[in-house]
Amino acid sequence: SNPSLLILPGDGIGPEVMAEVRRIIGWYGDKRGIHFDVTEDLVGGIAYDTHGTPLHDDTMAKAQEVDAVLLGAVGGPKYDALDFSVKPERGLLRLRKEMDLFSNLRPAQCFDALADFSSLKKDIVAGLDIMIVRELTSGVYFGEPRGIFKEGNERVGINTQRYTESEIDRVARSAFELARKRNNKVCSMEKANVMESGILWREVVQKVHDEDYPDVELSHMYADAGAMQLTRWPKQFDVIVTDNLFGDLLSDLAAMLTGSLGMLPSASLGAPMANGRPKALYEPVHGSAPDIAGQGKANPIACILSFAMALRYSFDQGDEAARLETAVEKVLADGARTADLMGAEGGTPMSTAEMGDAVLA
Ligand code: NAI
Ligand code: MG
Repeated sequence: SNPSLLILPGDGIGPEVMAEVRRIIGWYGDKRGIHFDVTEDLVGGIAYDTHGTPLHDDTMAKAQEVDAVLLGAVGGPKYDALDFSVKPERGLLRLRKEMDLFSNLRPAQCFDALADFSSLKKDIVAGLDIMIVRELTSGVYFGEPRGIFKEGNERVGINTQRYTESEIDRVARSAFELARKRNNKVCSMEKANVMESGILWREVVQKVHDEDYPDVELSHMYADAGAMQLTRWPKQFDVIVTDNLFGDLLSDLAAMLTGSLGMLPSASLGAPMANGRPKALYEPVHGSAPDIAGQGKANPIACILSFAMALRYSFDQGDEAARLETAVEKVLADGARTADLMGAEGGTPMSTAEMGDAVLA
């Protein structure tokens, strides 16, 4: 049977960029004989409008069964006043939590044609292709105790950085597995100089490496030094693995090395399912962009590249993923630009569908 894909376009520009991905999926069936069983469902504000909840239980159950989930974006001003428990974001958070997606892959890849968009000098970023693996389900965002407590006659805000050995072990493994599909090189970042969790992190990552991945080149770096090195000479890295908090900061930093939000894909992976594939959710980094929604202006490339990641990491179609990435690279080199990619030189921007046409062609 065909591999299964659950598509959740969501809100705002989500459905607009996903429409282009649907065309590309159709192309793979027609031209390459690669077929997917695609189901489409609701998430976010549109799910709230329809069901009174940002993620229906039936949709959650489907997400647990399929080989991969592809999500557009959720949210918008219409839903800002809703109660926290039914906000569109809660739909996405529930997916991540119940699928236990502990490994968040954020590539920072610089297409040469867009190197001028980087916040760094062109020669520092041209050809850059690195991947940050961020632990997504634990660490200081979840650790207990947390809260604002009374202490004497003032208040104290407390969060706890907490990592178990097994939590470090599983994200380290996912980084090493990834490195084997890339250039066999991992840099692990923590602050073992000042944090107990950092000491344990370094120890466990080293142990997983020595026992099961001795073929991968492993280095360790303090996360603050890592931030400096990422802006000084990012091409020294290939895969970076780090915790939830440092990964949040470092992946946003790395994103700006490459330019527009409309270009950035992501994957969130969990434990292997019975068929050996990891639980997986693919989504662009950007949100629902209410300022341009409904105008056909959105750049579909982040969503298209998210599907390319699905081809590579869920469907063992690395060559087909590369084909799609090459198509994107080529249209950009040929000058294809949506509005977000227009520089000072001006010109008429392409619509979402025209960019989709160019990639398909
Ligand atoms: P955003 O990513 O939606 O937009 C930020 C800026 O980037 C806007 O000017 C937008 O027009 C532009 N932009 C984003 N994606 C683009 C694309 N594909 N092509 C061209 N331009 C693009 O972030 P913002 O404005 O902070 O949030 C808007 C809504 O999206 C909020 O409701 C927020 O909660 C939600 N959001 C959802 C996320 C998700 O679904 N994963 C992530 C981030 C925000
Ligand atoms: Mg962030």
